[in-house]
Amino acid sequence: MALHILFLQICVGILALPIHILAFLGLWSSIAKKALPYLLEKMTKSINTRMGEQKRYLFSHLKDFKPPSGELRVLEIGCGTGANFQFYPPGCKVTLVDPNPNFKKFLSKSLSENEHVKFNSFLVASGEDMSQVASGSQDVVICTLVLCSVHSIDKVLAEVKRVLRPHAVHWEMHAGGFFFLEHVRGDPSSWLYFFQQILDPTWIYIGDGCRLTHETWKNLENANFSEVKLRHIKAPFKWSPVQSHIIGYAVK
Ligand SMILES: C[S@@+](CC[C@H](N)C(=O)[O-])C[C@H]1O[C@@H](n2cnc3c(N)ncnc32)[C@H](O)[C@@H]1O
Ligand SMILES: *[C@@H]1O[C@H](CO)[C@@H](O)[C@H](O)[C@H]1NC(C)=O
Repeated sequence: MALHILFLQICVGILALPIHILAFLGLWSSIAKKALPYLLEKMTKSINTRMGEQKRYLFSHLKDFKPPSGELRVLEIGCGTGANFQFYPPGCKVTLVDPNPNFKKFLSKSLSENEHVKFNSFLVASGEDMSQVASGSQDVVICTLVLCSVHSIDKVLAEVKRVLRPHAVHWEMHAGGFFFLEHVRGDPSSWLYFFQQILDPTWIYIGDGCRLTHETWKNLENANFSEVKLRHIKAPFKWSPVQSHIIGYAVK
């Protein structure tokens, strides 16, 4: 890494010294885990307004994965406050996974506001280990703004493929789909990427494990899905280090 980047990373780190000290003492994580649901609830409205068109178009493909008989089984990983429920098709049955139990009461509120969504269960678990979810049991899996924060993107993708339904020739039903909208590393020649690098070591604490510089599209391309439909888009968030996004879906 270039020396000037390291220097600027340290400068940002000094500005955010209280956070780094709390993190060093092991106190920051529980503060972040309590604060994040409130922050996220505040931000969700604005995110859904600015990304609404993209999200609506993406999630309009969910119904293509509905089994010929029965309801659409949806698993959302890192569901947070339930920001995506409003985009789900009516009558789908959702299983929610998030390692942070503090989202529970926010989820109850979102579910009561979205009566078209049938709640199945909320599992306090990480995407890397969803052993409570049976293999082949889901028609679609959804992740938005989650793969930036996980410990291992590859392990999550392996779990996604495990829980998705296989291709069923018998019923002419194609395999399950993985829907994603994730912020990723900016173009290496951009100012955006320059700032992402400088902020990254501090951002990880502010965003409860969130990294700014993941090349998530590479993990998706290497995960051996039968088909990956992926677009790089720029989110309309001015002055934000999370502008570059990928959006799309992959078929098991
Ligand atoms: C930025 S929030 C996004 C929440 C929601 N998906 C949305 O779009 O509003 C990141 C979420 O990922 C969750 N998360 C963090 N690490 C995770 C992991 N290893 N597996 C699953 N979810 C995780 C967090 O608890 C948080 O709910
Ligand atoms: C994808 O398939 C290739 C070739 O079969 C294999 O070598 C590789 O390990 C697989 N990767 C994953 C993530 O499953």
